[in-house]
Amino acid sequence: MYQAPRGTIDILPEEQAYWRYIEDKAAAISQRYGYRRIDTPVFEDTGLFIRGVGEATDIVQKEMYTFEDRGGNKLTLRPEGTAPVCRAYLEHGMQNLSQPVKLFYICSLYRYERPQAGRYREFRQFGCEAIGEIDPALDAEVIDMAWQFFVLLGMDQLHLKINSIGCKNCRPAYLDRLKGYYAQCQPQLCPDCRNRLGRNPLRLLDCKNTSCQQIAASAPKSYEHLCPECAAHFERLQKDISLLGLPFEIDSCLVRGLDYYTRTVFEIQPEAEGSQSALGGGGRYDDLIEELGGKPTPGIGFASGIERIITNLEKQNIPIPPLPAPVVYIASIGEAAREVATKLAGDLRRQGINLIQAQGVKSLKAQLRQANSLGASQTVILGEEEIKTRSVQLRDMSTSKQQTVDWDRLVDILK
Ligand code: HAM
Repeated sequence: MYQAPRGTIDILPEEQAYWRYIEDKAAAISQRYGYRRIDTPVFEDTGLFIRGVGEATDIVQKEMYTFEDRGGNKLTLRPEGTAPVCRAYLEHGMQNLSQPVKLFYICSLYRYERPQAGRYREFRQFGCEAIGEIDPALDAEVIDMAWQFFVLLGMDQLHLKINSIGCKNCRPAYLDRLKGYYAQCQPQLCPDCRNRLGRNPLRLLDCKNTSCQQIAASAPKSYEHLCPECAAHFERLQKDISLLGLPFEIDSCLVRGLDYYTRTVFEIQPEAEGSQSALGGGGRYDDLIEELGGKPTPGIGFASGIERIITNLEKQNIPIPPLPAPVVYIASIGEAAREVATKLAGDLRRQGINLIQAQGVKSLKAQLRQANSLGASQTVILGEEEIKTRSVQLRDMSTSKQQTVDWDRLVDILK
């Protein structure tokens, strides 16, 4: 028997209410903050992610689903949504629109990670990108939107962490200091960190290994090594987040796993949770558009994993509105009645009634049992007697009371 590939899930009908709920809230919050939806292809040129996400990242080094198609093109299933949106921004001349251009997406992503709770190889995100504005007020607004999205979903125990990792002017000097610090602690580092030290020293700060975390706690802090412009940006950001009434913590070890970030980075977690639990995160990427071949253009965005949101909604017992089920079931006894039922079912559906017709030869009792298990609130019953009088028995499934209704009045009564 085949099984779904490791790290992937089937989203079964009984779980769909969560997905509809979250997608509806994502669309609603996006509209509230002025974002319009964009959908990009599931696969892109591999080079987009190597350039965009960064050669030294885990995503590019270890996690991409890359393949050559029959035409010899090197393609990759998107591991994240920001680089594709920036590619689309450039490809469709969106720099000529009023800036910032605000876009949101709901899509599936692919990362060859070690599957565990909250971590999949195929997962889905709601994400947003605001491109073309450097003002820290926009950073605060994006963080506010992310926060309000979780609030709109019904979550209340949230924790916001922010940091600034500087820009291409101030970061090199900071990285030198960081490398110098870590060089002294090298023997105590985990093998992964020893490996990363040369390639990607920032990532040592968010290693999950306990002894590495102790070392990281005393490491030089990026926000203490910012150039005046980055420092002013970070100040204004904190001021604006406070104006918006969001509680936050500055976390000098928050660096994020993608190389395009500059200045602001942030994550939102459920209160009192472990390391795997970021509900969402994002930050600025002021060099990304230029890296992809455009004019220097700043940007900032955020994304949240929908599977992780569902886990948290379940944990916090947040009630989800059920999806509407078909309300009418149509049962019949005998072939002549079945033919009339077929025609009647067609007519009712064409007039907008959600309906299930009994199929296969079943006793009336079995048909009523099926109507019950499908959650029908009304059952239309047709037998020989009803055909003669051009009527039906209409059975209220909650009270089991039946009434005789003429064919011509049926739609009005059901509506
Ligand atoms: P990210 O932190 O890699 O950022 O992913 C954002 C969110 O997606 C995570 O906080 C988590 O909720 C979810 N997520 C990530 N990996 C997995 C996984 N393997 N399984 C389940 N959920 C996962 C980005 O992707 C950036 N593009 C966000 C961004 C947008 N930055 C700027 N704009």
